[in-house]
Amino acid sequence: MKFIWTVSVLSWASTGRAVELEVGTCCARLHQELGTKISFLGQPAYNATENSYWSLQEAGLKPGCILRPSVPQDVSRAVSIIAAIDGCNFAIKGQGHAPAAGFANIDGGVTIDMTGLNTTSLSPDRSVLSVGAGASWLQVYQYLDPFNVSVAGGRNGLVGVGGLTLGGGISHFSPRVGWACDNVVNFEVQVSFHWQFHGINADSKKVVLADGTLTNVNETWRSDLYRALKGGANNFGVVTRFDLGTLSQGNLSVSSFVNDISQRRPVLQAFTDIVSSPNFDVYASLVVGFLYNSSSKAWVISNSAVYTRPVLHPPVFAELAAVPSISNSSRIMSLVSLANEAPTPPLNWLFATATFQPSAEFMLEIFDILNSTLYSFNPQGGLVWDIAFEPLPSGMLSHATKTGGNVLGVQPEEGNSYIMLLSALWPDSASNLVVEKVSQQALFTIESRAKAKGLLRKFQYLNYAAWYQTPLASYGADNFEFLKRVSSKYDPFALFQNRVPGGFKLAKEGQL
Ligand SMILES: Cc1cc2nc3c(=O)[nH]c(=O)nc-3n(C[C@H](O)[C@H](O)[C@H](O)COP(=O)(O)OP(=O)(O)OC[C@H]3O[C@@H](n4cnc5c(N)ncnc54)[C@H](O)[C@@H]3O)c2cc1C
Ligand SMILES: *[C@@H]1O[C@H](CO)[C@@H](O)[C@H](O)[C@H]1NC(C)=O
Ligand SMILES: *[C@@H]1O[C@H](CO)[C@@H](O)[C@H](O)[C@H]1NC(C)=O
Ligand SMILES: *[C@@H]1O[C@H](CO)[C@@H](O)[C@H](O)[C@H]1NC(C)=O
Ligand SMILES: *[C@@H]1O[C@H](CO)[C@@H](O)[C@H](O)[C@H]1NC(C)=O
Ligand SMILES: *[C@@H]1O[C@H](CO)[C@@H](O)[C@H](O)[C@H]1NC(C)=O
Ligand SMILES: *[C@@H]1O[C@H](CO)[C@@H](O)[C@H](O)[C@H]1NC(C)=O
Ligand SMILES: *[C@@H]1O[C@H](CO)[C@@H](O)[C@H](O)[C@H]1NC(C)=O
Ligand SMILES: *[C@@H]1O[C@H](CO)[C@@H](O)[C@H](O)[C@H]1NC(C)=O
Repeated sequence: MKFIWTVSVLSWASTGRAVELEVGTCCARLHQELGTKISFLGQPAYNATENSYWSLQEAGLKPGCILRPSVPQDVSRAVSIIAAIDGCNFAIKGQGHAPAAGFANIDGGVTIDMTGLNTTSLSPDRSVLSVGAGASWLQVYQYLDPFNVSVAGGRNGLVGVGGLTLGGGISHFSPRVGWACDNVVNFEVQVSFHWQFHGINADSKKVVLADGTLTNVNETWRSDLYRALKGGANNFGVVTRFDLGTLSQGNLSVSSFVNDISQRRPVLQAFTDIVSSPNFDVYASLVVGFLYNSSSKAWVISNSAVYTRPVLHPPVFAELAAVPSISNSSRIMSLVSLANEAPTPPLNWLFATATFQPSAEFMLEIFDILNSTLYSFNPQGGLVWDIAFEPLPSGMLSHATKTGGNVLGVQPEEGNSYIMLLSALWPDSASNLVVEKVSQQALFTIESRAKAKGLLRKFQYLNYAAWYQTPLASYGADNFEFLKRVSSKYDPFALFQNRVPGGFKLAKEGQL
């Protein structure tokens, strides 16, 4: 069994036909070992996974077979079988909310759908939640609600613990406790395999133990991998469990305001005043967004202003609330009811992102660039653009150090910033390429204008990035080199680079 993986990496660029045969072999072997946890096209379990993706781009891919592990050891067995079969590629799926094709699904490979790993347990002192990596945030919040504690996780409950946390994770609580990943106290991970030094032998210095073993990764054990996983996405292993630090939490105050587009100046001024405050209110969780419907050619402003204490009309949002609105509402509710959003119908989706230094004037310019780029673009079936702005206060970034740091490369010293999430949704898959092109054009124009004004930050938030962006490289040269070192240490034959092709890859971004 020893050096099989060296061989598989060397010949990973095999022909399509060879790959097909290998996937057949691979799925047959998996089926032999894991029985009904493996499903094939036409079976209900296969269907259930395929129908659970958020975007049509992901749902449209057809894996050779799908594994639904029910215990972490199923993942270990599967990874060692897959790794030993040349040409057998795989994808790792949480709640399937990454929109880009191939990030958590694969054509003609093996998809590992983690959603069955969804156990939750709270430590007796209520300080740590252990959660299976495939759970949704809604499951987490529902479990924690009766204990009056919560964790920093997704705002929409349908999103997965796995993807959101490994990419950073912006929570309503982030200004108070940092990125979701900053609150991970321990990961349970299936790395590609375990190896140990056996001195110098004829072939190599390392002996591969092909039966993968689950390992804990935390501040005192494999602390390099621990830091790498906080932003490193699926480049290092399959995470099977997250242990998350909790916070005391009661009800929240939730407001929404819809404004006419003619009110954009006061809205963006209010946003900028909140974002640029040196005393950013750590209970404020704000999203300001422009929506554009290509069929009606109508823009509207839609804002979500959450305050993570049960205080109606908190002063921090007073300036925003005073802008004349088409509709507005404010109420007190639990995180569970706030996160319990209705699923969207099957649509194509695109995400793209950039980070800026606060400036209301520049946000007005962003709007003009968007309008001039998007105004006359109206693909078959219509399309909606949703351009959202979210604060990235420096106080939030300072929480990274409490658990030994992350790799995101955004520093509190840079001051407060805000993140733009440019997203699009449209029904007609024939428009996918052209939508991507238009989004790229808008993004690049905005970025170059921001750069010229000294307002562009290098950070590209991975969970919001388009497939054509390079978020890992945006973490900065030191972090990127660190990630590559950790990858070669824990995954020396680059299984998670070459055989897990989906998502943002160190190997790919490194080539740029
Ligand atoms: C409706 C919606 C709301 C959102 N809200 C927020 C928000 O409030 N805050 C925020 O920060 N982001 C938010 N996002 C972005 C979100 O963080 C990303 O889409 C994230 O990738 C979703 O994670 P997932 O597990 O559901 O997705 P998946 O598509 O299943 O996985 C995403 C990526 O993570 C990898 N991955 C997943 N699980 C594992 C694992 N266990 N081990 C190794 N790799 C794994 C996958 O291989 C894939 O590349 C939102 C997205 C959507 C669509
Ligand atoms: C799988 O889903 C498709 C539609 O998405 C449906 O036509 C088919 O009957 C389903 N098959 C099974 C086995 O559930
Ligand atoms: C956890 O996963 C199992 C297996 O997929 C599923 O039956 C169960 O409903 C899930 N639990 C919750 C709380 O969603
Ligand atoms: C949670 O808070 C509510 C309201 O304050 C209280 O009634 C309840 O006893 C608390 N539950 C626990 C487990 O502390
Ligand atoms: C870190 O991992 C080690 C090794 O498995 C384990 O003994 C220790 O309890 C872990 N620490 C935490 C905080 O989980
Ligand atoms: C966009 O506008 C068209 C025309 O007014 C309308 O029919 C459609 O429902 C709108 N789409 C969305 C998603 O609001
Ligand atoms: C908020 O909505 C109410 C009606 O629901 C309206 O009377 C009020 O003017 C609105 N506030 C602003 C600032 O427009
Ligand atoms: C939280 O708000 C809900 C109303 O949405 C209310 O029913 C519940 O009692 C509140 N809980 C606490 C602890 O105040
Ligand atoms: C958007 O651009 C169109 C076409 O140039 C213009 O007519 C329209 O007024 C612009 N919209 C806004 C809100 O500025």
